[in-house]
Amino acid sequence: MFNRLSLKIGVLFFGFILLIGGILYYILYIHLANGRIEEVIHNLLARGNTHSDVLEDNFTDTTMEHVGLMESESDFVVIITDADGDVLVRSDPLQPEMTEIINQTNYDAIPSDGIVVEDKWQEKRYLATDSPISIQGEHRGHVFMFAPTEQIRSILDQLSEQFKLIGVIAVAVTIITILILSRFITVPLMKMKQATEQLSEGNNDVELSVERRDELGELSKSIQSLADDLDRLKNERKEFLASISHELRTPLTYIKGYADIIHRQPLPEEELKTYIGIIREEADELSDLIKNLFELAKMDRHSFVVKKQAVHVYELINSIVDLMQPTLQKNKLTVSIQCPKDRLVLVDPNRFQQVVLNILDNAVKHSPHHSSITIEVETYGDEVDIVIHDQGEGIPEKDLPFVFERLYRVEKSRSRKSGGSGLGLPIAKEIVESHGGTIKLNSRYGQGTSVFIRIPGRGTA
Ligand SMILES: Nc1ncnc2c1ncn2[C@@H]1O[C@H](COP(=O)(O)OP(=O)(O)OP(=O)(O)O)[C@@H](O)[C@H]1O
Ligand SMILES: [Mg+2]
Repeated sequence: MFNRLSLKIGVLFFGFILLIGGILYYILYIHLANGRIEEVIHNLLARGNTHSDVLEDNFTDTTMEHVGLMESESDFVVIITDADGDVLVRSDPLQPEMTEIINQTNYDAIPSDGIVVEDKWQEKRYLATDSPISIQGEHRGHVFMFAPTEQIRSILDQLSEQFKLIGVIAVAVTIITILILSRFITVPLMKMKQATEQLSEGNNDVELSVERRDELGELSKSIQSLADDLDRLKNERKEFLASISHELRTPLTYIKGYADIIHRQPLPEEELKTYIGIIREEADELSDLIKNLFELAKMDRHSFVVKKQAVHVYELINSIVDLMQPTLQKNKLTVSIQCPKDRLVLVDPNRFQQVVLNILDNAVKHSPHHSSITIEVETYGDEVDIVIHDQGEGIPEKDLPFVFERLYRVEKSRSRKSGGSGLGLPIAKEIVESHGGTIKLNSRYGQGTSVFIRIPGRGTA
């Protein structure tokens, strides 16, 4: 509970409110208190001085009583003493604090424009001023003015109350903030955490809300797409395993079938040769399939080294075509190469040979006799483009997006003529991509196929 993000943010928020509130309170308190006190003291002194001025003009009992009467109606207290501090007139009953101040006063040291004799509003009950009465240079008496500090304290108490109220509001706002934050941050985070746990347990059936446009929305989108990818991969693996067992079973069925026939009865020499030939062919295919699968597995594990070197692209292609001459002649196909002779390309020659072989093998398998295959090489800046075009049967549009998938074949039944395993193009793709290149295939059913390979990084001559 105390480790929850919303609570941490909430407490931080609360701390900030409290800090700002505290600073504000302090500033206001000091400002208000000091301002108010100064004002009261200033008024008090001015009032005392006015009374002393009046009494200096008319130092009679009647005037003194008038002054006392006047102040008895106000919030202030006036005490008029003679030059020795004996009380002559007072507006309100005498309090011990007042007597104390009157007794402590040094009567000879009071300046003519009065003095503040008590300003400790926090400790004392009264603020006090003393205005002397001097008639023609003669010291005749004093006007003491007192203002109760209770009023100021009550103003400040009120302020404290208000700040306490603000504190309570801050706590309430914090609680609401924590609740809102937990609704908008913690809950989605918890859901995502649960989703990732679910994923790690192998359950990819994850549904997260992806409507938010903030960072949490982005995160939840990423997790959702991760889940979708995992799901897709799981299905692909399932399909792949199903196809692979099928691919392995078919040649094995042939091998076992013909072996059984040979085993069951003695056969004429001719027939025996044919059957053994089929068994050998199927066994070869099986071994090719396993070899190719092994290659792909190595590529997936990235335990596959690409040793790039600058090779003449023309020589490379020419040597591959030479290698294929017997097959080409058998199928009555011609190959034309259009390639600048001095172009260099940065590739692993052995691996790259495999790419071109796989593509040429497809072209041969799917081209009618007496048609031609063209290989064009062009360079764009540092990139080298190789296009292999045939005039064969082409690939139906619906199959085009899948031809680079493992074990995908257009012709689902393994015909003896074209019978590949659907690994040629995926292997070519892996190799080209491991060179940092791209491979694309364009085809129109009935009109031939073109394969485009783009390899970056041209070597220097
Ligand atoms: N030049 C082409 N003309 C017509 N169809 C093609 C061509 N190249 C590929 N295809 C189609 O794409 C499918 C996938 O090709 P890929 O090379 O991956 O497998 P394969 O040739 O069937 O088997 P493998 O290459 O493993 O022996 C092929 O089954 C074929 O139907
Ligand atoms: Mg092939």
